[in-house]
Amino acid sequence: MDDRETIVEVKNVSKYFGKHKVLDDVSFNVYKGEILLVIGFSGVGKSTLLKLLCGLEEPDEGKVFLKTSKIGMAFQGAALFDSLNVFDNVAFPLVNAPQRLEPTLLKQKVLEKLRLVGLSGIEHLMPDELSGGMKKRVSFARAIINDPEVILYDEPTSGLDPVVSNIIIDYIIKLQNELHATSVLVTHNLSTIGKFKGRILLLYDSKFVWEGKTDELFSTDNLYAKQFRHGDPKGPMIVIRQ
Ligand SMILES: Nc1ncnc2c1ncn2[C@@H]1O[C@H](COP(=O)(O)OP(=O)(O)OP(=O)(O)O)[C@@H](O)[C@H]1O
Ligand SMILES: [Mg+2]
Repeated sequence: MDDRETIVEVKNVSKYFGKHKVLDDVSFNVYKGEILLVIGFSGVGKSTLLKLLCGLEEPDEGKVFLKTSKIGMAFQGAALFDSLNVFDNVAFPLVNAPQRLEPTLLKQKVLEKLRLVGLSGIEHLMPDELSGGMKKRVSFARAIINDPEVILYDEPTSGLDPVVSNIIIDYIIKLQNELHATSVLVTHNLSTIGKFKGRILLLYDSKFVWEGKTDELFSTDNLYAKQFRHGDPKGPMIVIRQ
């Protein structure tokens, strides 16, 4: 018997952009407390899948059932507002929420989240004064400002050097533990994947073609998983866009 508690259920979801079917009748559950990695080559639909989970995109068919309304998303490329300083970027979801927090409480929350991602004292800086790794961590602080039960990370280590990537990964694991959160992480970065002990779904051609644990990705004989880990252009997955 499966005693895992489901926090997000994706049921028979299909998603099109024009005639392009990005997801085709996809079903999976996210279980409370886990780290789920959705992997796949570029353009396969990973970001689209995360946007469906947090409601930024609607499925064309099927449904996403959320057992919580507390979802935070750290976007691909950090997606900070250039004209807002770090404090206002992090506070943005609270300032724009239907129920406004009183200013002292708002400040307390923003500073607490910045502390959690190791960025105390930088709240007055503008995004263009930050390094890539700092921007990512500011985006994490913004994603967790509402104490989410589910945190979605889109390519959290892309564009970062290996050392900064490791720091970012440590923060993801720390946030997972300290907030007792569930994380869904999207990446095509093999070394990032290897740092997590979690469950993996490999997306290709609008379907999941392999599921397994992180360490299994590096040992399985499954042709899709093997191709992914070797970055082999030959197949079975055809990488259309180079
Ligand atoms: N809003 C949109 N309108 C039209 N097409 C879109 C839209 N968003 C995504 N697509 C298309 O859907 C496909 C999947 O895009 P998506 O961004 O989800 O891929 P991805 O796996 O996140 O890629 P990457 O690894 O490069 O970030 C791509 O072909 C993309 O061009
Ligand atoms: Mg993407």
